[in-house]
Amino acid sequence: MMRRMKRCCLLVIYNILLIPTLLSQNHYENEMDCFITDLMERMTLREKLGQLNLPSGGDLVTGSVMNGELSDMIRKQEIGGFFNVKGIQKINALQHLAVEESRLKIPLLVGADVIHGYETIFPIPLALSCSWDTLAVERMARISAIEASADGINWTFSPMVDICRDARWGRIAEGSGEDPYLGSLMAKAYVRGYQGNNMQGNDEILACVKHFALYGASESGRDYNVVDMSRLRMYNEYLAPYKAAVDAGVGSVMSSFNIVDGIPATANKWLLTDLLRDEWGFGGLLVTDYNSIAEMSSHGVAPLKEASIRALQAGTDMDMVSCGFLNTLEESLKEGKVTEEQINAACRRVLEAKYKLGLFSDPYKYCDTLRTREKLYTAEHRSSARTIATETFVLLKNDRHLLPLDIKGKIALIGPMADARNNMCGMWSMTCTPSRHGTLLEGIRSAAGDKAEILYAKGSNIYYDAETEKAATGIRPLERGDNRQLLDEALRIAARADVIVAALGECAEMSGESVSRTNLEIPDAQQDLLKALVKTGKPVVLLLFTGRPLVLNWEATNVHSILNVWFGGSETGDAVADVLFGKVAPSGKLTTTFPRSVGQLPLFYNHLNTGRPDPDNRIFNRYASNYLDESNEPLYPFGYGLSYTDFVYSDLQISSETLPKNGELTVSVTVTNKGNYDGYETVQLYLRDIYAEIARPVKELKGFERIFLKSGESRDINFVITENDLKFYNSGLEYIYEPGEFDVMVGSNSRDVQTKRFKVE
Ligand code: BGC
Repeated sequence: MMRRMKRCCLLVIYNILLIPTLLSQNHYENEMDCFITDLMERMTLREKLGQLNLPSGGDLVTGSVMNGELSDMIRKQEIGGFFNVKGIQKINALQHLAVEESRLKIPLLVGADVIHGYETIFPIPLALSCSWDTLAVERMARISAIEASADGINWTFSPMVDICRDARWGRIAEGSGEDPYLGSLMAKAYVRGYQGNNMQGNDEILACVKHFALYGASESGRDYNVVDMSRLRMYNEYLAPYKAAVDAGVGSVMSSFNIVDGIPATANKWLLTDLLRDEWGFGGLLVTDYNSIAEMSSHGVAPLKEASIRALQAGTDMDMVSCGFLNTLEESLKEGKVTEEQINAACRRVLEAKYKLGLFSDPYKYCDTLRTREKLYTAEHRSSARTIATETFVLLKNDRHLLPLDIKGKIALIGPMADARNNMCGMWSMTCTPSRHGTLLEGIRSAAGDKAEILYAKGSNIYYDAETEKAATGIRPLERGDNRQLLDEALRIAARADVIVAALGECAEMSGESVSRTNLEIPDAQQDLLKALVKTGKPVVLLLFTGRPLVLNWEATNVHSILNVWFGGSETGDAVADVLFGKVAPSGKLTTTFPRSVGQLPLFYNHLNTGRPDPDNRIFNRYASNYLDESNEPLYPFGYGLSYTDFVYSDLQISSETLPKNGELTVSVTVTNKGNYDGYETVQLYLRDIYAEIARPVKELKGFERIFLKSGESRDINFVITENDLKFYNSGLEYIYEPGEFDVMVGSNSRDVQTKRFKVE
């Protein structure tokens, strides 16, 4: 009786709370539908096709405003939006053209790749994921949206959530690493940060999850390459982060360049309609990637006209750059190859995106120049970027506690990244102004004050060969010096120092789009520099700059300390100084496996076992699944990262040896900070399904907690496991769990864990 009453009360409360929300939601949608239906009734076919067209403004906007072609297109309503234009004046002028000089006054979407900051730049996304701090990622996305919207942008092409297990692929830098569970949490955090409260505010913008789908699995790590994988692998290992973004309400999705089941994602109806729209319920805007409709011709699938038909019919709404929709669909309609309904459906979704952004009520919502003056690169944003950057650095090695450095004596900062102002932010940071950023040298000098002397030498070029360096540095060239002279000078400086900090690795444009590598070592000239510095016998700290896992076998053996700082954004200099001198203890944990050899790739922790697993990780066991010349083990595993302090795990317990049906089980562990520094630790929980209908991974991340422990402090950490954590897609693609035995593992990374077994009824 009591229970029934309680249920009744709950129902009433639920209805009181929910019905108005549902009603107002319905009311909103009805209003939107009416508005758009009315508008579309007045649109010509050409104007509708215009809404589906998304050119890059980058080629078209010149000088202070724009060249004739883009303005003409706007006046004729031949575009639905544009991207790649920076500057509120230009954007404002273009929006005015659309709203005042076009027939139906439809405002424009204004897109940009704001993927880790706008003017204030945060660490690259791969680094951000190593913080394991979803609130930090949400904050970064919030600040990015505040800044981008203050400069006219209303649509960001982020988050990029492609799972990647192959460090050869340069775009690994843009995502959250190799794990679908962590990747999903990060995907949601980005969407929440960008879109805020449903894009109501003028600092909340449309997010776009990309690249749908599977782009990170491109064969041999070569960009834009073939992807071919089983449905089982897609569902169990790759799709979760895209779906998480959809579940978080992402307003737009970008399809990927690669093929999926032989058909380019751009025109893959199974992917874009059956899965994304019908199975996952995505109702937002679907845009192609850059020129990818036209590229279906090179794929050997269809020339532009037919490719446009196929992309539209697969569910695409907006054509980025190809102009195939604008220029060919009218004829295809006349020929009966597409229907007016298909064009209308796409046009409606573009208009809906604009409606949801509030552009119809206020086309200049994102053109507030007061905000431009007040909201960009503020002290508050920079301070967040600095703090967040410190969370992303991963301490890979720290022999005899060389780090943190005392601020005293003579410290030599050597390496081509030490004074490379325009290389601190990494790829996709074209929107920022590097001349405003500090260098590493400046950050370290300012932290040292007059307590230590900071000596500096560039030490080497990026590569010995000028042409290779030109390709590697791309839009951020560095001044080159003579190879021999640079090294000599470095050794002279090193000779005077008590400790050497070597700032080297990749330069900013060596990772990101279209920079695949087959050699993942530190580039030749810098490697020789590092070897020469180590040879001096002085203590050496390697400050590693990179957008991807590198092969660091020599470094791991011979360098005393390695702090991987990725590309830390506009505040890199100060953030690195904070960690180097111990103001903050490093807490980043790898979200991507560091291999011992390129030959091991793809390499990832959550792999399946073979029938002949390697029994003891020796280099070679005949008839086991391994290599003649290298072990199967990574150099640094997923989840790995040291601190200045020591965290000790003890007393792993499970509340019961059986997880009952519809029940739960608590796993607890005690973590103690036994070292001398306060610090953050990320406690990780992994599960393994011992036997199942299909082979299951040797372990899968299913929970983690980032905790702060003062020196000497202990804390019990509890994780609750339910059946939901045990589910996977079986051979019939049903999402289920199977009764049987499971291992639960808890530890500080995916390798160093304690294990308990439990049963599921
Ligand atoms: C990239 C996308 C990006 C787009 C627009 C493409 O080349 O693959 O990630 O959003 O360009 O700049």
